[in-house]
Amino acid sequence: MSVLVTGGTGYIGSHTVVELINKGEDVVILDNLSNSTIEVLDKIKQITGVLPKFYKVDLLDINSLEDIFTQNSIELVIHFAGLKSLTESIGIPLEYYNNNITGTLNLLKTMKKHNCKKIIFSSSASVYGLPKAVPITENFDLHTTNPYATTKLMIEQILNDLYISDNEFSICILRYFNPIGAHESGLIGEIPNGKPNNLLPYIVRVANGQYDCLNVFGNDYKTKDGTGVRDYIHVVDLAIGHIKAMDKVRNDIGVHIYNLGTGKGYSVLDVINTFEKVNNIKIKYKFVQRRPGDIGECYANANKAKEELNWEAKRDLEQMCKDSWNFILKSK
Ligand code: WQD
Repeated sequence: MSVLVTGGTGYIGSHTVVELINKGEDVVILDNLSNSTIEVLDKIKQITGVLPKFYKVDLLDINSLEDIFTQNSIELVIHFAGLKSLTESIGIPLEYYNNNITGTLNLLKTMKKHNCKKIIFSSSASVYGLPKAVPITENFDLHTTNPYATTKLMIEQILNDLYISDNEFSICILRYFNPIGAHESGLIGEIPNGKPNNLLPYIVRVANGQYDCLNVFGNDYKTKDGTGVRDYIHVVDLAIGHIKAMDKVRNDIGVHIYNLGTGKGYSVLDVINTFEKVNNIKIKYKFVQRRPGDIGECYANANKAKEELNWEAKRDLEQMCKDSWNFILKSK
């Protein structure tokens, strides 16, 4: 029996594939390579000694998706594949709804047809919108402020309705906070297409001279130093969270929702100062206007995952900053 990882050559997907192989799982990757490269497969082989089976398939191509399930015995699916830029989604909402929702519907229909009823879904803390307080627990109100986050919320609802219609399904919904960092080998990491929207990919490109200066979006938030506070989580800790979620879907039917965060909030200035300290590099930055759609403070209460999945993040911000930079150094 195999584990199908959709989006498995992507940033979080590839780190999860490494942990799956390390655990002895047989992995099949589906990816359309729209935001990743085929070279990631060789990097996974360098790290694990195993070259996972790969299909260059888009979830909108239901016939090719059917072939994957016909040619392999898929026990469960970890579903990462989807467009994921909050900013981009505001400009092209129809592409986001078609790609993320129709793609997921194709996947779920094909899974049901082949009696594959275990799925782990890559959701996002952005389903909490502007939280009423921090830290955030899983029972907080859900509301979204952009099409990307709305696709995540819609898919959560689809999964809930699917379970109501067929309670043989085992479903884990994982709400990620801010994944950063890279595998200790420096062989896999985050390679955003074009100019990075997110903080760490931008900082490392200021550090390597690709950009001159980091724009800090606002220093007038009601936070300790006025800059935005987020729950940064090491991507390897996040990947290990999926391994724990896999045990859950193998043993319990139903819909299970977990925050995957550290439970700690760090400001933009905390991240800059930590990055500079551990890598001995100066990061030039300047304060500019707030970014539309940003919120001041967002970090998790991760106790539920600790209690029910026996999972907690182990790597600290210093390790995240070290590994992010190590990936860039190794990519040169
Ligand atoms: C972090 C902080 C910015 C860039 C988004 C999605 C979330 C998840 C992670 C998918 C904020 C500040 C950033 C820069 C800055 N993605 N910043 N200058 O917006 O918290 O979360 O990405 O699931 O769903 O919403 O992450 O890294 O963009 O921003 O000052 O050049 O860094 O204002 O305070 P964000 P981010």
